[in-house]
Amino acid sequence: MASQSVFITRSIPDSGIAALTQAGLGVKMNPFARSLRHEELCDEVGKYDAVICQLSDPIDESVLKAAAPRCRIFATCAVGFDNIDLKTAAELGITITNTPDVLTDATADLAWALLMAAARRLGEAERVVRAEAWQGWGMLDFLGADVWGATLGIVGAGRIGAAVARRAQGFSMPVLYYNDAPNPELDAMGARRVDLLDLLKSSDFISLHVHLTDETRQMIDEKAIRLMKRTAILINTARGAVIDQAALIEALQEGRIAAAGLDVYQSEPHVPKELIDLENVVLLPHIGSATVSTRSRMARIAADNVIAVLNGEPPRTPVTAL
Ligand code: GLV
Repeated sequence: MASQSVFITRSIPDSGIAALTQAGLGVKMNPFARSLRHEELCDEVGKYDAVICQLSDPIDESVLKAAAPRCRIFATCAVGFDNIDLKTAAELGITITNTPDVLTDATADLAWALLMAAARRLGEAERVVRAEAWQGWGMLDFLGADVWGATLGIVGAGRIGAAVARRAQGFSMPVLYYNDAPNPELDAMGARRVDLLDLLKSSDFISLHVHLTDETRQMIDEKAIRLMKRTAILINTARGAVIDQAALIEALQEGRIAAAGLDVYQSEPHVPKELIDLENVVLLPHIGSATVSTRSRMARIAADNVIAVLNGEPPRTPVTAL
């Protein structure tokens, strides 16, 4: 294994690098403080036995073909893998792994941070203070929405959706969820599985937790948004393309829903000016899993997957097509 080496497409925490070097693997890191361009990625990947990549790297057919036949695994430091062409990877015999579980709680916490911030207009209020424009306490200023006791709708009740629902118990919130299959944990806590239409109509807060697939792309389109209450608040920590972004902007501009909290966008890192100009949306730069310990664990799992595959063992967290 001493002669084997790994390419890392963008800096990762030391935990991952230490594990790779302790396993005797050579490590080469993208030297730039930016993602590699497509041609740069294609030039590099074929020279290594494994690649540790990120959600911002489009691992498409041409990247995978450039990586084969030497490269045996792409280990993405993310739970989502919509950026990876799984079909071509399977055809070329390249293993794909992700980093599930370890980022569930950090991402659920961030969904809650966005929910609270959007409900209580924290971004807007903070901007007033920072602009030194606060005129003093006012009975009618910055009136937001109650969180306590409001109905929470979870779209996609997998690991992260369930963790968001768990937190809702502390706020005495009835929970509705939309999911292919019942989630026994949510059922046991009294959450109700409903169809998407009911969820959209009845929820005060709607939080999205689906993988991006052909089925979920733009599932929250104009029609879906029109079903929501005028007071509804939409939270997205999943993938930007789950929402029709133009339709959301229009709804926020027209006050057809109250607010949104977004960590993800249709075409990252581009955030449309129309969103930036709106006061009733909280905007974050895709930081769902961004805590010190979570990112460290993600890097470690990616490294462990690489080590396992290069040792001829099964990967710890393989990705299979949804
Ligand atoms: C973050 O969006 C992830 O997929 O891990």
